[in-house]
Amino acid sequence: MLPTRLRKNAAVRDLIRETELSMRDVVYPLFVVDGENIKREIPSMKGQYHLSLDMLPKELEELKELGVRYIILFGVPDEKDAEATPAFVDDGIIQKAIRIVKEKDPEMYVITDVCLCEYKSDGHCCFFHDNGDIKRDKSLETLCKVTVSHAKAGADMVAPSDMMDGHIEAMRKALDDAGFESIPIMGYSAKFASTFYGPFRDAANSAPAFGDRRSYQMDPANSEEALKEVVLDIEEGADIVMVKPAMPYLDIIAKAKELSYLPMAAYQVSGEYAMIRNAVDAGLLDEKAIYESMLCIKRAGAKIIITYFAKDLKALIEKYQ
Ligand code: PBG
Repeated sequence: MLPTRLRKNAAVRDLIRETELSMRDVVYPLFVVDGENIKREIPSMKGQYHLSLDMLPKELEELKELGVRYIILFGVPDEKDAEATPAFVDDGIIQKAIRIVKEKDPEMYVITDVCLCEYKSDGHCCFFHDNGDIKRDKSLETLCKVTVSHAKAGADMVAPSDMMDGHIEAMRKALDDAGFESIPIMGYSAKFASTFYGPFRDAANSAPAFGDRRSYQMDPANSEEALKEVVLDIEEGADIVMVKPAMPYLDIIAKAKELSYLPMAAYQVSGEYAMIRNAVDAGLLDEKAIYESMLCIKRAGAKIIITYFAKDLKALIEKYQ
């Protein structure tokens, strides 16, 4: 057997290629901020911006030109409070952003990140008892309010990233009770307590004021626990399950895909982006590395890739695929 027979020329290589990327695979994260006329580069994430709401229409035009059809919205409000109120009010930054996007470009598919850390004074994704234990009831109740407020504003899909036990079940019920049976939930099912989120916390101004997230996000050392989380999310009614981060966790993506019949997503997070972007910009890596990183995430089993490189993909496909 000579495996090189099937590598001899482009035609035969094309014939046997198993994985291809498409603009149908990628979701682009957008960070919206309070204020006007703001398009401010995020220092830790070159090429990514904080945008004020009035800048969204122009951004949508660019996204359309670049073939991006799916976005996930993150809000970075000026004011946070102890109750995370800005996360669920009708005129919250995300609720307003959703309405603007839907008005300007109804075909843009809008996913929202559901969490409290960007809206809560202490930067945590949940509430705590005095002894430090998670206050699950209150956390879930608030997260459900956030979920329903996004749906009311017109979100197409919600993506809870809070990692609270039982959150998918609670949110599914909250959505159904409010008449939003048709809104799917993409669970950040296996979300690790990863150092690779570092640049995002600058972007979202959401670093915890005390402690860390290890009492609710997963230990990077564990894979069985990740599968347990995926199974639980499926049982609770998730429509899509996600693994996050992506590239250092390809084994988790592959294992989760094996046990799940749901579409799989993976989040190529801020640290992965910063690493590759900076290496390409410094001339240390060819830009083809961007394409390869996404291709490998898909090959591992993720159909959906949430990535800050989404805007680059069309050009990369034309060049390398
Ligand atoms: C909010 C949230 C985070 C990310 C997505 N949603 C940060 C965190 O959990 O600390 C990370 C995204 C990235 O790093 O690109 N909970």
